[in-house]
Amino acid sequence: MKARQFCVFGNPIKQSRSPWIHQQFANQLGINLEYQASLAPINGFEQTLKTFIANGGAGANVTAPFKEEAWRLSDHLSDIARDSGAVNTLSVNGDRLLGDNTDGYGLITDLYRHGATLKNANVLLLGAGGAARGVIPALIKEQLASLTIANRTASKAHDLKQHFSDFSIQSCGFDELTDTGYDLIINATSAGLAAQKPDVPATIINPNTFCYDMVYQAMPTGFMQWCQACGALQCTDGLGMLVGQAAKSFSIWFGQMPEIEPVIQQLRELLQTGK
Ligand code: ATR
Repeated sequence: MKARQFCVFGNPIKQSRSPWIHQQFANQLGINLEYQASLAPINGFEQTLKTFIANGGAGANVTAPFKEEAWRLSDHLSDIARDSGAVNTLSVNGDRLLGDNTDGYGLITDLYRHGATLKNANVLLLGAGGAARGVIPALIKEQLASLTIANRTASKAHDLKQHFSDFSIQSCGFDELTDTGYDLIINATSAGLAAQKPDVPATIINPNTFCYDMVYQAMPTGFMQWCQACGALQCTDGLGMLVGQAAKSFSIWFGQMPEIEPVIQQLRELLQTGK
């Protein structure tokens, strides 16, 4: 049988591990799949997607900077995608495009995998772009004590709070962060991509603060190193989130949930050996 065609769209995309991850899932479950990475032009995502579908594409992942556009292009949205305003998983169903967002699932399962506590936690989310927006609906469901969105540009944090106005969220600029010792801090800024770290005060961290960086690399990220230097004992990167969101996308397309753990281990080894 001809393999079903899948793709991840982004710009840039060269760094994407999604084709490799989905191939591991397909191998686990004996599924025949073709999954490629596609660089869509910044102003050409819609056209690139349409060409992919016209050529028989069955589904796609979408990464920065196209998640909001994928949301607009979806004919039908899952509840979580509708709330987040961002889509990272598209499924072609006849002539309809179904949009979902599995980033929140990836984040929450990875936090639990690392032993973080979410119930009654005071949570600080750094960043107010697509990455932050995508995980807020899933975070809100976790019975947190509080959720604060802090962003370098305070107005964008306030806009995001407004978007989720049904929920009790606080928003502020980095320089207004006066609370100390959050239970959980999630870095959803793209500062790390430019080898920078968000300019936030060290007082937000105490030894029990669980620090999570949504990006990942072979070595601890700059944000993780800074959190450790501020005394945080538990810091982790977003590699497990990446594999978790991919697994959920895979289950949407194939109706079977692959095993996440072995793929996380293998990917960590690949990174550490520079592959
Ligand atoms: P993404 O889809 O990855 O979230 P985005 O929508 O461009 O990308 O958002 C990038 C986020 O990272 C924003 O919150 C941005 O802050 P501003 O709104 O102030 O631009 C944040 N960010 C990027 N570089 C940063 C840096 N060096 N320090 C702090 N925040 C940074």
